[in-house]
Amino acid sequence: MSGRRLIEAAFPLKQASLDSVHEKNVRHGHISTLHIWPARRPLAASRAALIATLLPDPGTAEERKRLIEKIGGKVIQKTEKKKTPTKTVDVLREETIGGVLHWGRESSPDLDWFRKEIRKAYGGRAPRVLDPFAGGGAIPLEAMRLGCEVTAADINPVAWFILKCTLEYPQRLAGQHRPLPQFAVESPEFMEAFLKGTSKLTKKQLERQLKAVQQSLFPPPEVDLAWHVRAWGFWVLQQARKGLERFYPKVDGAPTVAYLWARTIACKNCRATIPLLKTRWLCKKSDKRILLKVAPNADRSSVAFEIEENVPVVGSNAAQRREHDKRIGGGTMSKAGAWCPCCGQARTVSMGMEDIRQEGLAGRLGTMITAVVADAGAGKMYRTATAQEAQLATETATDLASVFSGIPFGIPDEAIPQGGSRSGGGSPFTTHLYGITRWSQLFTPRQLLGIGAFVRDTRDVRAAMASSGYPPEWIDAVQAYLACAISRLADYNSMVCLWGVSRETIAHTFTRYAIPITWDFCETNPILHGTGSYDGGVDWVARYVEHALAAAKGAVTPMLVRQDVLRLSQGNGLAWDAVVTDPPYYDVIPYSDLADFFLIWLRRILHGAGPAFDEAFEDSHGPKWDQESGEGELIDDASRFGGDATRSRNAYEDGMRRAFTRCLASLTPEGKLFVVFANKQPTAWEALVGALVGAGATVTASWPIVTEMRGGVRNFGRASLASSVWLVCSKRPESAHAGWDNRVLEDMRTSIQVCLREYWDAGIRGPDFVWAATGPALEAYSRHPVVKKANAPGQTMDVSEFLRAVRRIVVDFVVGRVVSPGAEDEAVSGLDDLTTYYLLHRNDFGLEEAPVGPCILYAVSCGLSDADLADEHELLARTGGKAGSSDEEEDAAELEDPEGEVEEGTGSKVRLKTWQQRKAKGMGYDGDGRPAPLIDQVHRLMHLWKAGDQVKVDEYLEARALAGNRLFHRVLQALIELADEGSEERALLESISNHVAGKRPELAAQVPGWDIRRGGQSEEGEGT
Ligand SMILES: C[S@@+](CC[C@H](N)C(=O)[O-])C[C@H]1O[C@@H](n2cnc3c(N)ncnc32)[C@H](O)[C@@H]1O
Repeated sequence: MSGRRLIEAAFPLKQASLDSVHEKNVRHGHISTLHIWPARRPLAASRAALIATLLPDPGTAEERKRLIEKIGGKVIQKTEKKKTPTKTVDVLREETIGGVLHWGRESSPDLDWFRKEIRKAYGGRAPRVLDPFAGGGAIPLEAMRLGCEVTAADINPVAWFILKCTLEYPQRLAGQHRPLPQFAVESPEFMEAFLKGTSKLTKKQLERQLKAVQQSLFPPPEVDLAWHVRAWGFWVLQQARKGLERFYPKVDGAPTVAYLWARTIACKNCRATIPLLKTRWLCKKSDKRILLKVAPNADRSSVAFEIEENVPVVGSNAAQRREHDKRIGGGTMSKAGAWCPCCGQARTVSMGMEDIRQEGLAGRLGTMITAVVADAGAGKMYRTATAQEAQLATETATDLASVFSGIPFGIPDEAIPQGGSRSGGGSPFTTHLYGITRWSQLFTPRQLLGIGAFVRDTRDVRAAMASSGYPPEWIDAVQAYLACAISRLADYNSMVCLWGVSRETIAHTFTRYAIPITWDFCETNPILHGTGSYDGGVDWVARYVEHALAAAKGAVTPMLVRQDVLRLSQGNGLAWDAVVTDPPYYDVIPYSDLADFFLIWLRRILHGAGPAFDEAFEDSHGPKWDQESGEGELIDDASRFGGDATRSRNAYEDGMRRAFTRCLASLTPEGKLFVVFANKQPTAWEALVGALVGAGATVTASWPIVTEMRGGVRNFGRASLASSVWLVCSKRPESAHAGWDNRVLEDMRTSIQVCLREYWDAGIRGPDFVWAATGPALEAYSRHPVVKKANAPGQTMDVSEFLRAVRRIVVDFVVGRVVSPGAEDEAVSGLDDLTTYYLLHRNDFGLEEAPVGPCILYAVSCGLSDADLADEHELLARTGGKAGSSDEEEDAAELEDPEGEVEEGTGSKVRLKTWQQRKAKGMGYDGDGRPAPLIDQVHRLMHLWKAGDQVKVDEYLEARALAGNRLFHRVLQALIELADEGSEERALLESISNHVAGKRPELAAQVPGWDIRRGGQSEEGEGT
């Protein structure tokens, strides 16, 4: 297929964004519930991108509109009631109707239509699509669903294994059924779940059916792979339960949901053993408030615990209540260290973090159970541990040795990677700082025993299935899915898991892309039902299998390869029609280090399951970087380069350039390379775009798809907080020649103007507008292998320089709309950098806290830096960290999204300073030969006006000839619009505006939005 693709002309941006955001809340059957893999792309965005890349541009605006609507449906607004602590409010929501992107519409009849159209576009054959950084497989899954011949590659063996479960097994076994195994049919417990899950029966019908099955009146039902996974998961659970049950005793008939633990340390002063607790809250719901009481025991050698129920709410407003709860719930730990309940005083640290670290390194940190969560039937109840429970928790040595004696590689003593990939230098792995260096140390002995028992019994599934007559491909698939269930089990059963006090559930290990040290943690009961249990895990996995079987119906066999992209060659000697991929982004995620958490268990389960598995999991850790060959995992991690940050960055950038070169070389001449960038730090982005252009790509379009949205509809058009930029590239023809900067800039200006208006009209706003506009602008630049400077012989214009020019045009366009709303063609020129930045920022984020990423982008676009804005101009205040969380203890207790996937961190924040906070002496006066920025002059005027000295106001206005400055009038008007109605800021600005307009009414009248009547009814004098 040749010619322009739909994506180069149009894209269902808003629909893909809305449905991607919605997908974050989807649980049952979603790919994210199969196995943790960091940074999975949303299926809706991947599907939209693939359809729009594979289909041709129909050529007319009307046809495009029709096609876009068929893909994404229509966006409608809905009012929903939302309960706040004090009242119910109406919230406006946008959602899609129709289309094939929304979760649940992926198997609508329209999808068949797209499959056919895509094939038609490729002369009746399935297009060949490659994802060389396939990770958890979102893009390949969608390509397979759309009928493509897909190749999914990743360097990491865990990713390769997940890809097999995501694509290969469902495709192989879609549409096949086998009778349920006899042990399942004979189990009333299993059959009840089966009948409830597969048919809608009344209680009576259910009882009758169960009886009939048990009396062998029917042959065992023929079921698909998902039910076989459930059946064999049930079998494993029965086996494992036999040896594990005694370690989780019921007390007073109530089964144990979880044990809550704290690490312990010997007090430096009195030698008492004290628990390291971040919080003493056990449950903090509006109607259930329970605290753990900690007091010295009789001989003050340690502490004793009690449970305090019905803790009263104190405080007349939310802030007071929060403060009170924080005070009464404080544990023994803070960021500074720990205090001793036996000899010390609350919050007076007696052991600093360094003391604790040294104790850890010397192997002297212990653990103790602080409380037990039990299932009381009508809810969870909290109690202290019995002596038997305290003893049982550690009485596992003999059983441990016996369980692991039959498991390849034994107890998981492989080293935990220490890794250094995190900007700012901090390692995502901090356990080694406290002497925890082997994976086995990250689990309590009972957790190890539990996971070990499930590993052993999952290994035995192969023989049991073979003797029941299953074909090898069924055995491989079922065992692999049960291995996924063990990955889930391990994720919920490490000493990193916290107890979530506001929802009374356990949080999993990977709530962040990190393995941090935790002081208090939660140990769940794996043989009970519920969050973190084994059978819960099996059900989540089976639900994905159901979804995947539907997606794989009639699909072409996918090809999965465990391969370094730097060794990429064409599949079967045939070129790919499209390479669609989501590469790693610098130092954001240490994939291989994190995946080792799962690799240690997978290699134990799957050893002996076939040569491919033995080879994949031969090493005790996933691939890092090989200095000799210059190949390996492409992340920026200085610790892999002896701490040399420059070498690490260069290796990453050079690796990405080589990767893109290989991708382009393996494309058909008309093929498209489609790359997702989630790192929007301008410098990182420029380097990656530089790598693309250097590799021979011409960028033809870019779309910023929102994948996470906070703040509802109001924020949609303002400032998308978490989006990724999807970039479309073609191969640059060999015959392309060098360009000249003046011509390239001219071409860019001409082409970008049209796009800017289109994107604006399409409702794209905020930083995403800058990203969206960058793609088409890059076309002019990337058309040439190199761009020379006409006025500087021998010099070239690099990507950064070019992008600076682009961004300036884009922000001038936006500011034009801010200062002249409704005046379509009013781009602003001549406005100083600082005022441009202020207006952009204020327009998007107001005076609220804003993520630093977009602000850096705006700053760079205006020729400034965030540091300049904060330090030199005193325009920005750094507020840092997670929004609104200064309370570490609360953080620890609230870290919970029980079934959620890993979320990217929000990073640090900034906030615009208010005019009152900007009071530097020299503000608003020219300095160092530089004229004062207009925003500084306005703020100076506001201070003068507020002080009531009209003479000084007039002197200032005159000295700076502001009344005759048209731009000044427009900025004033824009600031009025941006200020809150009824605020002092707005009143002051209006007074100043009226006052100035009185001096030059003809200029004021030219300002769009200026109400001349206001000049007539001047509020002058007010405030002076
Ligand atoms: C951003 S993730 C891809 C996530 C994926 N799109 C998904 O939806 O799950 C980047 C992937 O690149 C892989 N990777 C890193 N270096 C690689 C290399 N040299 N060759 C192949 N894959 C590599 C990582 O293992 C990781 O899975």
